[in-house]
Amino acid sequence: MTDTRPLLLFDSGVGGLSVLAAVRAALPEAPLVYVADNGGFPYGTKSEAEIAARVPALLGRLAERYRPRLIVIACNTASTIALAGVRAALDLPVVGTVPAIKPAAEASRTRVIGVLGTEATVRQPYVDDLSARFAADCTVLRHGSARLVELAEASLRGEPTGDRDYAEALGGLLAQPGGGEMDTVVLACTHFPLVADRLAAIAPRPLVFVDGAAGIARRVATLTKAQQWPAASGEGLAVFTAPLPIGAPLQAALAARGLERIEQL
Ligand code: DGL
Repeated sequence: MTDTRPLLLFDSGVGGLSVLAAVRAALPEAPLVYVADNGGFPYGTKSEAEIAARVPALLGRLAERYRPRLIVIACNTASTIALAGVRAALDLPVVGTVPAIKPAAEASRTRVIGVLGTEATVRQPYVDDLSARFAADCTVLRHGSARLVELAEASLRGEPTGDRDYAEALGGLLAQPGGGEMDTVVLACTHFPLVADRLAAIAPRPLVFVDGAAGIARRVATLTKAQQWPAASGEGLAVFTAPLPIGAPLQAALAARGLERIEQL
């Protein structure tokens, strides 16, 4: 019998689309369900307790409804706080998204790297741990920006966003002691690769931006290696957890990523 089970990718909003693009490129035949928890958005300004309670419960509900073969938590905030809780609650492979500090440390020449994430992500012990393990000889600067998350959401809705806001977000790293030496920036929120070109455009000097999407796609490909995909393949469904006016630009952005169908949970 053909295995029709999809891959389910999950984020608080549209940020996980940056991960979806890499997964789609690695596994073009995989049916995808992309879930944006807009009912809980934003995650980055919530407490650890709120995220740890919300995410495993919601993913349990989603797993029952969509019967995925694997779940990708395409959100650094949810992963750094709730990955263990989700794995304990679900009998499914779960791939998380954690700040790409290791590749950033490998890329940095000046040994000063920045971690740009949500406020919740940059304060996690998970980040201390990754820094100690993979960037022990680097200065690791951190900055949390809720505004940059909003800018990425606005961009996908087709709304204009101003350079000054991007400069402020990046300035949160550049203005710190050592920021003048920083040559590599970890985009530690999945929303941020969606606006990486805007960050690069306002950067005062060339910076290397690193994110984890390609590594996640490789991991998903490895975990599903021996599996079959259905004949009518590559289908995509976007699910929102709360009512949302989906304008033409967002609909086009979803369709461009193979998410032709949209529904509300
Ligand atoms: N995209 C999410 C992340 O990777 C969080 C954005 C938010 O809801 O604050 O952290």
